[in-house]
Amino acid sequence: MKFFVDTAEIAAIAELNDLGMVDGVTTNPSLILKSGRDIIEVTREIAELVDGPVSAEVVALQADAMIAEGRKLAAIAPNIAVKLPLTWDGLKACKVLSGEGFMVNVTLCFSANQALLAAKAGATFISPFIGRLDDINLDGMDLIEDIRTIYDNYGFETQILAASIRSVNHVLDCARIGADVMTAPPEVIKKLASHPLTDKGLETFLKDWEKTGQKIL
Ligand code: E4P
Repeated sequence: MKFFVDTAEIAAIAELNDLGMVDGVTTNPSLILKSGRDIIEVTREIAELVDGPVSAEVVALQADAMIAEGRKLAAIAPNIAVKLPLTWDGLKACKVLSGEGFMVNVTLCFSANQALLAAKAGATFISPFIGRLDDINLDGMDLIEDIRTIYDNYGFETQILAASIRSVNHVLDCARIGADVMTAPPEVIKKLASHPLTDKGLETFLKDWEKTGQKIL
């Protein structure tokens, strides 16, 4: 499973990228607001920093305007994926922009039928939002499973980019189901390394080591 980082914070991306943990980046208007940066400038910096796809989201609602914004965002760097909302106009824009050879990430997906439409419109990535479904007492992971089944049934090449990931268990479940990509905030990715038994074991080893009176260096 590929790891995308869901942030527009350069320092956080760089730290994970140096460890080889970053296969791509996703941003959205809320994350751009949080960064306090200009969308074009920060997207260019991120795209220069990482090798993989960097999603940059349009904000227009009509297909023609989405296409114009998408072309402008795609011109920032060759590894930009234009992020479009899963609306009827978004699907129209997806068809045009993917037909022009741009990577397209169709976002705000909350049903398997929406995901089916995105694949038919030529999306490179479909972004089902797990956490936001969990927030309203639905099971976001059921959606990932349904999309996996449907895409496999018909051989769609659109990649499932599991989004709105809030916990390490979300990451594990996505990997079990076979999501192609997951995008998570840097804190969640770093938490994947933590286990209380690792901390406890390390503490015991260090106490015993002290008793030996030895040094390695
Ligand atoms: C993905 O592309 C979205 O930017 C993101 O995962 C949304 O996550 P949230 O529901 O935690 O805001």
